[in-house]
Amino acid sequence: MWPVPDDLYPTQTSVEQRQTEDAIHQLIELYEDGVQPLPPLRRKEHAAFLLRILEPLSARYVAFDSNRAWLIYWISHSLDLMGLPLTGSLQARAISTLLHFQDTLKGGFGGGPGQMGHLMSTYAAVCALAIIGGPGGKPTEDDIENGHSVDVGRGGWDCIEKDRIYEWIMRLKQPDGSFLVHEQGEIDVRATYCVVVVASLLGLMTNELLEGVGDFVASCQTYEGGFSAMSFPTYTVQSNTMRPLVPVPEQPAIGEAHGGYAYCALASHAQLAFLGYKGDVAMDPLLRWATSLQGSAYEGGGFRGRTNKLVDGCYGWFCGGGLLTCIEGLTFPSVLEKVHVENDDDNESSSWDSIDEAEDDLLDRNALERYILIVAQLSSGGLCDKPGKRPDAYHTCYNLSGLSMTQHRLRHSSAAAEQAARTCGRADALQKAVYGQSLAWVSLGDRPTHHGAVRITHPIFNIGQNHVERLMQYYYI
Ligand code: FPP
Ligand code: ZN
Repeated sequence: MWPVPDDLYPTQTSVEQRQTEDAIHQLIELYEDGVQPLPPLRRKEHAAFLLRILEPLSARYVAFDSNRAWLIYWISHSLDLMGLPLTGSLQARAISTLLHFQDTLKGGFGGGPGQMGHLMSTYAAVCALAIIGGPGGKPTEDDIENGHSVDVGRGGWDCIEKDRIYEWIMRLKQPDGSFLVHEQGEIDVRATYCVVVVASLLGLMTNELLEGVGDFVASCQTYEGGFSAMSFPTYTVQSNTMRPLVPVPEQPAIGEAHGGYAYCALASHAQLAFLGYKGDVAMDPLLRWATSLQGSAYEGGGFRGRTNKLVDGCYGWFCGGGLLTCIEGLTFPSVLEKVHVENDDDNESSSWDSIDEAEDDLLDRNALERYILIVAQLSSGGLCDKPGKRPDAYHTCYNLSGLSMTQHRLRHSSAAAEQAARTCGRADALQKAVYGQSLAWVSLGDRPTHHGAVRITHPIFNIGQNHVERLMQYYYI
């Protein structure tokens, strides 16, 4: 193991890079010989850390006032990945709180009560409700007091105003297939991702919604192969009417390829591709860029979010587990079908070794697992960005999401999609396809772990596979 070579001309960036590498190496060298087992996943401590944020929400979080749906999502998803449920009372309170964030006038969920609908908060609220909610109306005050919700048929899903959400999404849609994040807000590809996820989960996908979306996503790809936040609009608008005025020639993406946006773009692209609506994304440069983001052994195998920047635990999901699994799902489907046929014949479940790892794995799972357990995990609870940083709910959520993908190798199977689509109760062909394709991610086998297993998360939606199934059955069957 050796540090990343530089040109011997020190800059602030090269100094920080070296300091980070050395701090990481100091932690991982204790495990270098392979004799010392990896530290266990400290579930109890992580759960205590997460619950301390919720009860009560401290004044330090005042700046999070418009991110409260996110806090509930990060915490409930993290606990769920570790197989730890919220207490009945907290679950009922969280469902009721999330429903208070709904903008019942204009549509969507805001980040807190009385706030305008925002696509990012809507993604977070719908995902959190998928994890902790269930069929039925809102839990009552008595339910909250007595710790009841889903168990008594008041899981809140009946209160999600999906038709209003659809109309609102269509008002946010722009002529080039992009979406505003909220009314009179900015455009970026995170908004597209939130639309794709919410419309898939709630059964809102239509040809009209999908028109031009794939082309907008593809237009955000940069010269490096990754994706930036947005591209130049391919239209100009008359500000008082917001009608398309003059088409302008296509121009390059604005900004720098970044793992967060690249995940949003590629997860959207993958879902659109499975539905037959994909734009023209160049896969070879994407593959090259995405695989280059995993850090060296000396950096502990963590991921960076952009070229020449520092590794950070959250990118174990956005660039590692999430992005690379979506790329694997698009690139290697035929291998999976082969494995499935073989397993059907043998009547055996698939195993971790059933296909040659080197042949089709884009992610070095062993290395990422080491980064998460040794470097990002704090023994006092919570997971963080890199040595010296404090843990937080966001990094806990995305480190654990990345860890899930180090333990489970998922591939997208068209056979599984067809099978699921046959059980869909909706007559419309597009709805059947969304249902089938969303439930088509299958595990090639679970990697044995000695440090504690985490559940399978959906590579496109990033909520437990079981919750995707439960929520989609509610809307599609
Ligand atoms: C750069 O931070 C980070 C961003 C510009 C945003 C990242 C976007 C996401 C994580 C997308 C999440 C969205 C959804 C809807 C899931 P930085 O400059 O501090 O970090 P860096 O040095 O690592 O780039
Ligand atoms: Zn981070």
